[in-house]
Amino acid sequence: MVHKKFAVKKIGVIERYQEFLPVTDNTPIISLNEGNTPLILAEALPVYLGLKNIKIYYKFEGLNPTGSFKDRGMTMAISKALEEKASAVICASTGNTSASAAAFASRCGLRCFVLIPEGKIAKGKLIQAYRYGAKVLMIPGNFDQALELVKRVTQDNRITLVNSINPYRIEGQKTAAFEIVDDLGDAPEYHAIPVGNAGNITAYWRGYKEYRRAGKCEVLPKMLGFQAEGAAPIVYGKPVEKPETIATAIRIGNPASWKGAVQARDESGGLIEAVTDPEISWAYRFIAEREGVFAEPASAAAVAGMIKLARRNYFEENTRIVITLTGSGLKDPDYALSFEDKIEAVEPTFEAVSKVVFASR
Ligand code: F0G
Repeated sequence: MVHKKFAVKKIGVIERYQEFLPVTDNTPIISLNEGNTPLILAEALPVYLGLKNIKIYYKFEGLNPTGSFKDRGMTMAISKALEEKASAVICASTGNTSASAAAFASRCGLRCFVLIPEGKIAKGKLIQAYRYGAKVLMIPGNFDQALELVKRVTQDNRITLVNSINPYRIEGQKTAAFEIVDDLGDAPEYHAIPVGNAGNITAYWRGYKEYRRAGKCEVLPKMLGFQAEGAAPIVYGKPVEKPETIATAIRIGNPASWKGAVQARDESGGLIEAVTDPEISWAYRFIAEREGVFAEPASAAAVAGMIKLARRNYFEENTRIVITLTGSGLKDPDYALSFEDKIEAVEPTFEAVSKVVFASR
């Protein structure tokens, strides 16, 4: 019998989609087996919305190695930084980019610096950057200011910027669209996604277009982007100086890939709209409590947006909708625990426990 133990193959996105990515035989591939995330059929949501002939899927990116979609872009950005002999990498981040950059940098011994907005980053993400060994710099300012700073720092030396203005990031992230087509057999008619710095919506649209050009799909989805109401520059058509939302991942007032997002919206015949914090919060709880899918608040913005559109009968019958859930719910324990209604202190006695259990069966 052939021993299977040694047949384990690396299955990161670069190896899987090499022909669509700007890599050569000289590119050292730094991978954590990212990608290949599940496309989960929504059960409760279509019933709740009364949608009979529309299928909804969650592309659950929270199951990537560092718990967000950023790993797809980071495997590319770090591999190329290494190939180009960078001495270190740096990024500004609302949290997930820093976690991912730190992980991939640690894997290949590159130094990593991250600039984060003090007090406005979910604890899980901060812990990750710190534990993967990055140098964490907290600034008393927001993401937009942090991004301006790292852009300046990387202007004239060998430190590589790994925010999504690094073109390799978008290249890696487009592989999520490839996976969806590979799973569904074609692209969905609609794709809902949260928008922050706007790299991901840009990446998906590029991915779908490239896959269609390669004959892998016929449909191109309408791209439906959602920003938080307090941080919705693209919706308002102008930068927001002091962005605010509970969805700290998308608390961004001047997105770097603004043009890419607008292009995705307009070319696809889609839209970019705002959702309120209460709408985000409601969707966040719904998918966790009714679907068994725990995503972070920014991810829930896309669910909230999809619900809003369904209520105005936006979706045509006999279609498919994919919603990207960008990050894991475990990233933000403070927000997760801020709803006290299901936590109750009881005495450690049989009587006290059974009273609660039998009363609420
Ligand atoms: N969802 C999550 C969980 C994110 O972390 C981000 C971005 C987005 C959505 C928005 O994606 O920026 O491509 O439009 N997070 C970045 C970061 C800004 O620093 O981690 P985008």
